[in-house]
Amino acid sequence: MYRTHHCNQLRAADVGQTAELSGWVASRRDHGGVLFIDLRDREGITQIVFRPEDYPAVAQEAQSLHDEDVITIKGKVAPRLEGTANPKLPTGEIEVVVSELNILNHCAPLPFQLDANLSNEDLRLTYRCLDLRRPAMVRQLRTRHILNRTTRNYLDREGFLEVETPILSKSTPEGAREFLVPNRGTPGLFYALAQSPQQYKQLLMVAGAEKYFQIAKCFRDEDPRADRIRGELTQIDIEASFITQEDIFLLVEGLLKEVFAATRDATIPTPFPRLTYREAMDHFGSDKPDLRFGTELVDLSDSFQNTQFKVFKAALDQKGVVKAINAKRFANITTGQIEELTNLAKLSGAKGLAFIKVENGEWKSPIVKFFSESERESLAQKMGIEEGDLILFGADSWDSVCTVLGRLRLKVAEFTNLITDPDELKFLWVTDFPLMSFDPAENKWNAMHHPFTRPKTEDIPFLEQGEFAKVRAVAYDVVLNGVEIGGGSLRIHESDLQQKVFSALGISEAQQKRLFPHLLSAFSFGAPPHGGIALGIDRLLMIITGTPNIRDVIAFPKNSRGQDLMMDAPAEVTERQLRDLNLAIRKA
Ligand code: AMO
Ligand code: AMP
Repeated sequence: MYRTHHCNQLRAADVGQTAELSGWVASRRDHGGVLFIDLRDREGITQIVFRPEDYPAVAQEAQSLHDEDVITIKGKVAPRLEGTANPKLPTGEIEVVVSELNILNHCAPLPFQLDANLSNEDLRLTYRCLDLRRPAMVRQLRTRHILNRTTRNYLDREGFLEVETPILSKSTPEGAREFLVPNRGTPGLFYALAQSPQQYKQLLMVAGAEKYFQIAKCFRDEDPRADRIRGELTQIDIEASFITQEDIFLLVEGLLKEVFAATRDATIPTPFPRLTYREAMDHFGSDKPDLRFGTELVDLSDSFQNTQFKVFKAALDQKGVVKAINAKRFANITTGQIEELTNLAKLSGAKGLAFIKVENGEWKSPIVKFFSESERESLAQKMGIEEGDLILFGADSWDSVCTVLGRLRLKVAEFTNLITDPDELKFLWVTDFPLMSFDPAENKWNAMHHPFTRPKTEDIPFLEQGEFAKVRAVAYDVVLNGVEIGGGSLRIHESDLQQKVFSALGISEAQQKRLFPHLLSAFSFGAPPHGGIALGIDRLLMIITGTPNIRDVIAFPKNSRGQDLMMDAPAEVTERQLRDLNLAIRKA
C-alpha cells in the first residue's frame, strides 16, 4: 500500500517498471509546469516528476506540495533525459513519472532548512526529530546500530551473556557525581542512578556468571567537556572471571578490530602497543597520549646538573626535573602564539615558559646566556636541534613538568598541523596506573580508577606501609588518537584486601558497612578472581564517524547545560508530586 521500493533502490535496470514510493518532499523544482521533486526516505533519494501533459490532475495537485510534506506516489521508472543524470545519487540515472499521488500529511513552516549548515545547536536539539531526518544524522544512527550489533555478535561468540542491571541503585563514592531519585515508598531515602554497572557486574561474577556484558547506560552529573557527556553516556561494559589482563586485551583488541571493520571498513593492526602510565607521562605528558605525532618530551636533567641558570637549578635542587619538547620548524611562532603557550603552561601549573628559537643559525632566547658550552652541546644533541626549531622547557616536579609539556605538545601539534592524515588510527594500551592519587584540596587519597581496583601484588606491601604513591594498580586504559575510549582493571575479590583499600581511601569501617555491605559480604562467599573494562561508545563513535561534537552521535542528547530541549527537561513538577515524594516545596 505504501511502497514497492525504498528511495535508494531503483536503478537504470528498473526502467519500465511501475514503482510505489513513500517519503518526504526533500526539495522541489518547477520547470515551467513540470515539477521535479526529490523524494527522501531513510535510505536515500529518488527524483520523481509530475508531467501536466501526461497526468494533468495529479500534476495540479502536486503544485500544493511543500518541503517535508509526506506522500506516497505510484509511477513508471523512466530514464533521465540525456545529460541530466546525477552521478552523485545512486538513483541518479532514473526518475519516476508520477501517475498517482497520495498526500499523507502536510508539513508546517520549518524552523530551519534541513540542508542548511546549522550553527545554532539549541535550535537543532529543540527540533531534534527534524534534525535527525538529515542524511548525515541518519548515517550517525546507522553507524551506532552497526557498532552495537557488531559488539553483541562478537561478545556472544566469545561466550558472554548480556545481563541488564538496575538503573535505580544506591549512592556510592565510585567517582562521579550522581543523580538522586526520591520515591513515594521510602520518604527521605534516595536511589542513585547507576554511574556504571560496576558493582553489579562484580556481584554477577560472585554469582558465577563468568562472562558478562551489557550495552549500559551510565548516569553522571559531571561538568561537560569536549568529549565528556553530562547526564547519560553509554558503555560497552564487560566483566569476566578467571581471566588475566592479557585475556582482556586480546578480547578488546578483537572487538575493536571487528567494530572498525564493520563501521569504517578499516583494518586496525593488533596487538596495540603498550606504555605504562609512567612511560606515557614521561614521554608524552599524558595518560592518553596521541601517537599520531612525535614531539616527545626529552629529559635534560642530567645535562643541567651543574647549571648556573637559576630556574633549572632551583627545580633540580628540589629533586625535580628539566624537560623539553622540540617544536620542529616552529621558530617562526607568532608573539600571540607564544603568549597562548605561556598562558597554557601557567594554567597547567608552570611558573613560566622558557624557550629557544633557532633562527639564522642563532639560538634566540634570554636564557641561553646562562648555559655553558657543554650544556649547549648536550642540549643540541639530545633535542636534535636544527635550524627553524623551537624548544620549549619545563623545570619543576616530574608530575608538573610532564603535565605542562604534555599540554604544550598538543597545542603545538594543533598550531603546526602535525596531524596530516584524518583517517589515521593510533591505538595503545596504557597500563600500571597508580592505584591512588593525592588530592591536596581535600587533603586525602582518592582512587585513581575506582575503589574496587586491584593493587599489583608486588605493591601491596607499600599499601600496608602507607606509601600510597608507590602502589600501582592492575588498571589499564585503551586510548585512540589521544582519547581515552575505555578503561578497566582487575578487581579485588578478597574482603580483607578490599577493606584495606577502603581504609587507605579514608572510608571508615562504619562507612564501609553502610556503603558496601553487599560487596564485602559477597566477597566472603567464595568470589572468583575477576576483572573487566568499559568502552565509551559515544567517544568511540566520535572517532569512527569523525564527528567533533559528541552530541551528534546520540539520538536525543542533552545540551551542554544538561537540558533536553526537545522534551524541555528538566522541568517543574506539581506541588502534589513533591508532597507525595515528601520533598520540600521551593517557592520561586
Ligand atoms: P570509566 O569511568 O573510566 O570506568 O568509564 C569507562 C569509559 O567510558 C567513557 N566515559 C565517558 N564518555 C563520555 N562522557 C563521559 N562523561 C564519560 N565517562 C566515561 C570513557 C571511559 O574510558 N566501571 C568502570 C569500568 C571498569 O572498571 O570496568 C568505568 O565506568 O571512554
Ligand atoms: P625568570 O628568571 O623567572 O624571569 O625566568 C626565566 C625564564 O624561565 C622565563 O622565560 C620564564 O618564563 C621561564 N621559567 C620560569 N619558571 C619556569 C619553569 N618552572 N619551567 C620552565 N620555564 C620557566
